[in-house]
Amino acid sequence: MKKICVLLGITTLLATAALFAQSDMDYQGYMKVIGPTNGSLQKNIAGKDAKAAGADAQKLQDTFKMVEAYWQAKGTADAVNFAKNAGAAFAAAGKSIGAGNFDQALTDAKGAGANCGGCHMAHREKTDTGFKIK
Ligand code: HEC
Repeated sequence: MKKICVLLGITTLLATAALFAQSDMDYQGYMKVIGPTNGSLQKNIAGKDAKAAGADAQKLQDTFKMVEAYWQAKGTADAVNFAKNAGAAFAAAGKSIGAGNFDQALTDAKGAGANCGGCHMAHREKTDTGFKIK
């Protein structure tokens, strides 16, 4: 009986650990979308491809909503703000793209960059195998 209890305890512990790992994995998925999409956005703005650039800006906005929700759930206020401001910058870029103002769109998109850097400084840790949330 004692053995079963210990086993059950370990199973619960493992399940809990997996749950946390799952959400961090999700988070890394968002960043793996954001990195390349941000590059693509800048390229498409430079190429004045309104359709592709608009889609990139929308995708970035949507993904930062998920990032914002992640930090909201953790109660990390500064990270919530970084995510919010980055999303707002991409929303502004989307508007400028829609209006055909590509110079302004580039400025808007670059404005998001300060939030990438700010949040990475505060909450990203480099490890031997990649990055970790801190
Ligand atoms: C609210 C905080 C926050 C913001 C804002 C943010 N990041 Fe991140 N980013 C992180 C954290 C934490 C990690 C480390 C965990 C991970 O790798 O996902 C990370 C990791 C990354 C990675 C590495 C992904 C990997 O593991 O291979 C890339 C690329 C990246 N971010 C790009 C960006 C870009 C580009 C922006 C801005 C447009 C941005 N991030 C904005 C928090 C943020």
